[in-house]
Amino acid sequence: MAARLFEGKDHAVFYQKYRFSLQENQQRVIFSYLDEKLSSFRLAVDVGCGSGQCTHLLAKRFEKVVGTDISNAQIEEANRAPHPPNVSYLVCPAEKLPFEDHSVDLVTAFSAAHWFDIPRFMAEVERVLKPIGCVILSSSTLDMRLHYGDRTEKLTQIFTQFQEQLSVYANEKINRVKDDYEEIFMSLPFQDKKRITDVLDKVPMTVAELMGLIQSFSMYQMFLKDQPEAAKAALQNTEQRILETMGVSSRETQLEYWTRQVCVLGCRSS
Ligand SMILES: C[S@@+](CC[C@H](N)C(=O)[O-])C[C@H]1O[C@@H](n2cnc3c(N)ncnc32)[C@H](O)[C@@H]1O
Repeated sequence: MAARLFEGKDHAVFYQKYRFSLQENQQRVIFSYLDEKLSSFRLAVDVGCGSGQCTHLLAKRFEKVVGTDISNAQIEEANRAPHPPNVSYLVCPAEKLPFEDHSVDLVTAFSAAHWFDIPRFMAEVERVLKPIGCVILSSSTLDMRLHYGDRTEKLTQIFTQFQEQLSVYANEKINRVKDDYEEIFMSLPFQDKKRITDVLDKVPMTVAELMGLIQSFSMYQMFLKDQPEAAKAALQNTEQRILETMGVSSRETQLEYWTRQVCVLGCRSS
């Protein structure tokens, strides 16, 4: 069954504002794979596109890009945000994609595949891909660090403690992220495939942006729904501890958010 955890309007707004797009190292892994494998760059479909941050990047390389998502609220935000003219969006489940058989050059899912019904999604990937077509399924892992000079260890500890508090609200599908997409990799029905688990990206952001990012996590949104006052207090407490540890008072102070990504890349070549 689909996990419908990204439906709220407010959640979609946080998503659009604070979720960052694919970073440099992850982009390098993905685009060098596509250059090696693909000769046609006509149509890319980004499944579970959310508010479209990563979808835009594909527009540089593909003639046409379609972002799809099961959530109306996310697609409304994607349509509202400025986007390249060759990108369009539609609401549909990953398990039933409205594309002809063998019509798509690339299917992607960024931080999304773990939410899908994997066997049904893989069957759709097989159906819609052209005889030579690629699939890329990637996600941020739960390994995150907060870097700020010699305060890095303490800040990372504060962040990890908050993650542990949120973990009570983790959907069971997060286990697919915890196993570094191994189950997803094993389910991909292609011979030509690989899984990379050590792509590290460093994202500069302010403390205010970090707090916005945390509020876009499905686990935080579940906490907020279940215990609104406790969730807000825990968030505020975490922000205060971060600022105190950094020795600053402004939420606009920059730190670096380090995130390890996992990436499953596959090519159907028959
Ligand atoms: C964590 S967000 C990732 C969004 C975007 N790809 C990104 O990288 O920021 C996961 C997205 O997958 C969508 N989603 C979850 N289950 C889905 C399904 N079965 N079919 C299509 N989209 C789904 C959610 O609505 C949500 O927008």
